[in-house]
Amino acid sequence: MNQDKMIEEIIKLKKEKNAVMLVHNYQRPEIYKIADFIGDSLELARAAAKTDAQIIVFCGVDFMAESAKILNPEKTVLHPEKLAVCPMAQMVTVEQIKEMRKKYPRAVVVSYVNTTAEVKAESDVCCTSANAVNVVASLKEKEIIFTPDKNLALYVQSKLPDKKIIILEGYCYVHDKILAESVKKSKELHPNAKLVVHPECRPDVIKLADAVCSTSQMIKYCKENDAKEFIIGTEEGMINRLKMDCPGKKFYCVGGTCLQMKKITLEKIYDTLKNEKGKVEIKEKIRLKAKKALDRMLEVS
Ligand code: 13P
Ligand code: SF4
Repeated sequence: MNQDKMIEEIIKLKKEKNAVMLVHNYQRPEIYKIADFIGDSLELARAAAKTDAQIIVFCGVDFMAESAKILNPEKTVLHPEKLAVCPMAQMVTVEQIKEMRKKYPRAVVVSYVNTTAEVKAESDVCCTSANAVNVVASLKEKEIIFTPDKNLALYVQSKLPDKKIIILEGYCYVHDKILAESVKKSKELHPNAKLVVHPECRPDVIKLADAVCSTSQMIKYCKENDAKEFIIGTEEGMINRLKMDCPGKKFYCVGGTCLQMKKITLEKIYDTLKNEKGKVEIKEKIRLKAKKALDRMLEVS
């Protein structure tokens, strides 16, 4: 089947099955064409919480599809590729959180949504890159155990000096590979460009930036800013999204590819929806506890 026909068939199947297609900004551009909603982790969690479709097909990495299921136990959530797993979400375990709680009994646990359902269930509240500062600021406790992204944790600490952020460390291999040196070179090549970076980038990269944004916040910033050129410090798929939403502006990427995000293809989506494969299942006990942490996040932002 050629690509246009595949897109047509997927759209037909969505109608027949009352399915909604939630797509992360980093997905392949052809997947945008079948999306009902394209967004960042926070927007997608909100869209999942709101939908009245019976089936949610989640085009993104595992933790995003899991969050959709945590928020929608009565719905069928399909993830088109079980190997699309965010490596950062595998870097922290429930045992590590329990140890940290023992060591810092007064601290609250804030986990980035890039975590497993089990880790969310052990956390007090979740956050995304879009709301991490607001979530931590909303807490009355001074001591915060923050996991797993060390760069996001350091960014939150820089914005909230009165808090004591204790990092249970992990990182994103895509963002952590963006080095200040290559960003500086790109700035020399494009002196009129604004530098917009994701908070998963290293602190020395963040220091050089004109704006620090979640993926969807980048779209808003680039649309509203008078500049015509932007250097983008995040996963390279974001450039397609920015070009689509900001016609006439130029984007230069300093980030690499998230191989896990790109494991999702139109063929896999078609097969998943047609045969209702890739069902996301979460044990009820874990789901209920994880939902509390996600709900608390959604209430804050
Ligand atoms: P956003 O929530 O900003 O889309 O980020 C998700 C992510 O995985 C970044 O690498
Ligand atoms: Fe995970 Fe990084 Fe890929 Fe985002 S870009 S899904 S944090 S590996």
